[in-house]
Amino acid sequence: MTIMLAIETSCDETSVAVVRSESAPHLEVLSNVVSSQVETHAAFGGVVPEVASRAHLDMLEPVIAEALAQAEVGPDGIDAVAATYGPGLIGALLVGVSAAKALALAWDVPYVGVNHMEGHLFAAFLERPDLELPLVVGLVSGGHTMIVRVDAPGSYQILGSTVDDAAGEAFDKVARYLGLGYPGGPIIDRLSAEGDRRAIRFPRAMLDDGLDFSFSGMKTAVINYVRRNPDAANADLAASFQEAVVDVLVTKIVRAATTTGARSAALGGGVAANSRLRERFAAACEEAGIECLVPDRAFCTDNAAMIAAAAHWRLANDGPTSLDGGANPSLRLSSR
Ligand code: KG4
Ligand code: ZN
Repeated sequence: MTIMLAIETSCDETSVAVVRSESAPHLEVLSNVVSSQVETHAAFGGVVPEVASRAHLDMLEPVIAEALAQAEVGPDGIDAVAATYGPGLIGALLVGVSAAKALALAWDVPYVGVNHMEGHLFAAFLERPDLELPLVVGLVSGGHTMIVRVDAPGSYQILGSTVDDAAGEAFDKVARYLGLGYPGGPIIDRLSAEGDRRAIRFPRAMLDDGLDFSFSGMKTAVINYVRRNPDAANADLAASFQEAVVDVLVTKIVRAATTTGARSAALGGGVAANSRLRERFAAACEEAGIECLVPDRAFCTDNAAMIAAAAHWRLANDGPTSLDGGANPSLRLSSR
């Protein structure tokens, strides 16, 4: 049994989790505290890197204390400390990495550096350690949109990715254009419930074309439509845009799963919190006869529990990360 304390500070959430491994691969999340900076950044209409780093510095200590308190574990009960070391904002990453290395030294336990994208993949195993492999994951966040085939933990194949904007970025940009606020994903999700998703037929970019995505044109289509139809209702625009994005995501992720012989499929990343995507993905997987997992929303958006899950596996397989290891803002997902 190992108790891992993990830190996630790659973007605008300061998160710390304490996760215990029972008999591998079963994990128990003892705490998963997330302190969001969303309101701080909302005033600027997006994440301001320097503001994010300072907010992580302010919040990390109390969030660590809260995570330990909720888990009812003292520092002497922690067996290893992990942190996201990339990809993300360099200043934000360094706050988490430095703190994790300092704690590892002070507590005399191993340090484990974790790839944020691998963390998003491991969110699926947190809930369903028995998921059958190969597993296809649609990883849809504010910074990334990709389809990954997981043949085994640590063995990944990127089957498709966006050629321009990430899906979450498209949600955020459309919401900003419509003056709805930041971050756009959850706002468009809520507003869509009041709109007609069939009101406007936005293009489904590259729908029949392989496993890559393009969202930038879909965002431009909304802008062009509003220019021509200034009286269009925001709720109809939101619902119709969301439907177009969800259509493309669901079609391609399920296509990837069926054409590559995957045994199961899952979602990950912040956009996986989207109600319509969750509903349509589950229905499409069922229709295709594929075992499907839609993780709890708390494990889709950035959180340290998923980082702890990946760290448990990395520590068991690769051993500790050297304390010389730094942060890498443009780290990629790769297999060794
Ligand atoms: O994974 P995440 O928390 O951070 C990154 O690693 O990027 O994803 C954040 C993204 C933002 O673009 C946000 O608008 C989007 O996820 N998002 C959503 C929803 N909740 C968050 N997009 C659509 N519907 C949602 N309910
Ligand atoms: Zn993320």
